Amino acid sequence: MIERIDALRAEGERAFASAGSGADLEAVRVRFLGRKSDLTLLLRGLKDLPPDERAAVGARANEARVHLEGCLAAAEARLGASAVSGPARDVTLPGRRPRVGRRHLIASVLEEIETIFHGLGFSIAQGPDVENDWHAFTALNIPEGHPARAATDTFYLSPGACMRPQTSSVQIRVMEAQPPPVRIICPGRVYRNEAVDATHHFEFHQVEGLYVDRDVSLADLKGILDRFLKEFFGAETVIRFAPSYYPFVEPGASVDIRCFFCGGKGCNVCGPLSGGWLEVLGAGMVHPNVFRAVGYDPEVWTGYAFGVGVERLIMLRHGVPDIRMFYQNDCRVLRQF
Ligand code: DAH
Repeated sequence: MIERIDALRAEGERAFASAGSGADLEAVRVRFLGRKSDLTLLLRGLKDLPPDERAAVGARANEARVHLEGCLAAAEARLGASAVSGPARDVTLPGRRPRVGRRHLIASVLEEIETIFHGLGFSIAQGPDVENDWHAFTALNIPEGHPARAATDTFYLSPGACMRPQTSSVQIRVMEAQPPPVRIICPGRVYRNEAVDATHHFEFHQVEGLYVDRDVSLADLKGILDRFLKEFFGAETVIRFAPSYYPFVEPGASVDIRCFFCGGKGCNVCGPLSGGWLEVLGAGMVHPNVFRAVGYDPEVWTGYAFGVGVERLIMLRHGVPDIRMFYQNDCRVLRQF
């Protein structure tokens, strides 16, 4: 076996040294180093040898291979660029464009929303994803036993520690940390123990807004949301407020936009019973109990708050039919935005 390797090595060395052209050299390479060359087959067959022979034969064959690779490189150098084998390159063929990554749709829409509110004088606040009972519920006027707690389907990590079910908790943290006036939005991820379907997910994004000052009125809230929704959905957007209940505001409202798919006639996007309106956010005037919880005097300070689901806004604006699409990382979907 060893003699056979040595013979191949010597024969190969001579053949590389005498190759006179690129094509010649390629043939020699295939014969001595190719996938079906004797040396390669021999190396592949090593596993069938008795163990005491295997090491010595393997080492010898490897040496021969390395040596012949050296001979190949030397021959290539000797023959110059003309030896570069393979088909000629057609430089007129169109190139293959490398695929460039992009921001995720949710990240870019969050930034867009931040930009809109920044232009309206709001700054950006952040809070933790893991919340305690006080910030997630109690200070938001949702005391223990309140039915609103059951409605939020919260994930608990331990008694008193949960994944925040809404970004409203950041309101509390901001007000605890600074005196009024306050004008912030808090974009972030929220978590709910929901069965996943086309319109529900166990995690999604919200943007919470809060404005506290003297003499803030419902008209201010309406003005700011009208402005935001027109910027987001287009200048022709029509909005409406309908009374609704949220424990941390009084009065509370749900805010609808006129369905831009059917123009308000009623369709399968807005639903036959909606009368042609799409609910897009919740809002209201900050409840006095919330002010008391953070140490603001409700006789002096007034404010509004609102909360909007980001995935829902995107689904409506871009006609995304299924919330799961945001989280499946299918490039065919993500590439469209
Ligand atoms: N936190 C509410 C939710 O998750 C949204 C909301 C409604 C926020 C009314 C508010 C508000 O600040 O005033 O459904």
